[in-house]
Amino acid sequence: EEKKRFVGVADTDYAEEEKRRVSHQAFQKVRQQLGMTYLPLLNGEYVDTTSFVDSVNPSNSSEVLGKVGLLSVEQAEEAMKFAKAAFPGWKQTPVKQRADILRKAAGLMEERRAELSAWVVLEVGKPVKEADAEVSEAIDFCLYYAEEMERLEKGVNYDVAGENNRYIYQPKGIAVVISPWNFPLAIACGMTVAALVSGNCTLLKPAETSSIITAKLTEILITAGIPKGVFQYVPGKGSQVGAYLVNHPDTHVIAFTGSQEVGCRIYAEAAILKPGQKHMKKVIAEMGGKNAIIIDESADLDQAVVGVVQSAFGYSGQKCSACSRVIVLNPIYDTVVERLVAATKSLNIGAAELPSTQVGPVIDENARDRILEYIEIGKKEAKLALELPAPSQGYFIGPVIFSEVPPDGVIAQQEIFGPVLSVIKAKNFQEALEIANSTNYALTGGLYSRTPSHIEQAQTDFEVGNLYINRNSTGAIVGRQPFGGFKLSGVGSKAGGPDYLLQFLEPRTITENI
Ligand code: NAD
Ligand code: ALA
Repeated sequence: EEKKRFVGVADTDYAEEEKRRVSHQAFQKVRQQLGMTYLPLLNGEYVDTTSFVDSVNPSNSSEVLGKVGLLSVEQAEEAMKFAKAAFPGWKQTPVKQRADILRKAAGLMEERRAELSAWVVLEVGKPVKEADAEVSEAIDFCLYYAEEMERLEKGVNYDVAGENNRYIYQPKGIAVVISPWNFPLAIACGMTVAALVSGNCTLLKPAETSSIITAKLTEILITAGIPKGVFQYVPGKGSQVGAYLVNHPDTHVIAFTGSQEVGCRIYAEAAILKPGQKHMKKVIAEMGGKNAIIIDESADLDQAVVGVVQSAFGYSGQKCSACSRVIVLNPIYDTVVERLVAATKSLNIGAAELPSTQVGPVIDENARDRILEYIEIGKKEAKLALELPAPSQGYFIGPVIFSEVPPDGVIAQQEIFGPVLSVIKAKNFQEALEIANSTNYALTGGLYSRTPSHIEQAQTDFEVGNLYINRNSTGAIVGRQPFGGFKLSGVGSKAGGPDYLLQFLEPRTITENI
């Protein structure tokens, strides 16, 4: 029988006045809750902590959104014990029941969509429309992985005369999820619900700068009926609690999304067998990118310019999928630079919550300083084509475009994770591909072209996990564009794709002679 294709939920249509009113009200409601304290959830109870961190609004750093209690290493050890105790029960819980908890969580997120996206906007400075799309993605992950687990549960029969052979999956045990701040709801939710629905007890350690939104996800999972100890919310310092959980002998799976530096470290640490450990750990590490879009002479430049600007400056370039290099063939190079500069100049830069904002702030002071250093390096390596002014109140950086960037330059090789775009010249399509493939990363890539041979060659030779032809290179949709990279962009199967849950499962073969 043919399987129905997964269809995700729709984003909010802000052209409708009613939707704009609901969004406005959600911001007012969220603002009434500012200043609350969010505590870790261990074994179904919120527990007190001795250290706290303030979560602030990157669009206005004097606005404190709330306080987050940070777990100690001793408390992390307790959480591990609770997870171990809860595992036998969760493992035996029917898949249908586990999947229904995810579906209930999806429904709750839909009900709280405007409020959740307001929290995303305020906590990580993501413009409203993109925050709303992130809520859709979180919902889709719940619905998709619920369906996927029900598919996998059926297993496979390889029976022959006199012998029954069943191929089945069982959960691995304890999963540690370590999430980044840039998709604070969708990525944290996706990794967590994948681990849960496949029957693993799961500890979620969010990025320090986005822990309130994961506290909201925690509320949702509790209301959806997740049993105590099965899911635990363990905010804490990455280098301390994160590292402790990674190194713990009882951890079976680590699902990490974040920087290459931390991902490589986790991969190495997880490979070392610890005293008392009786298994090898599975590591899923989704890391950075240095994504390129190639524009050849046959491209529709109206389409290409819009697509590049959106891919490079959406969420201020702080998506692992963001385009940070445009590789343009010689004959159209000057025209493309000119048009990119003109299109970028028209972007509205401002507080993330303003409906007119297209480019909001960057996440924090460290990020701003790091990006500014790269801009200084760029000024030495290349030609500054555009540097837009930015508001001074929050952590803003106006979009920057460099032209004549050498392909091996620092700004052309290292992930900047900010609104900085390098335009690189190539003499022909072959050279464009070589330049595109010359970094350590292989996450997303784009091609604007109407030349069939180029489109065909890019599909085999452009080394990226997600290739986009004649469209922008961000915004992958669950169950439609399974997402993830290779080379130093990551290890593991694609999020929102058919192989993802297998990473949380142990396959077994049962043979019975009859
Ligand atoms: P980060 O690596 O600084 O932090 C990610 C998480 O790791 C946080 O929760 C942090 O607390 C934790 N951590 C830090 N040190 C640790 C340690 N020693 N042991 C265990 N955990 C530790 O990344 P970030 O700044 O939050 O996110 C931005 C990065 O994430 C970018 O490089 C971006 O490209 C990448 N990213 C990749 C994808 C993808 O799907 N490939 C998606 C989103 C973001
Ligand atoms: N999955 C996100 C995107 O495609 C990172 O933009």
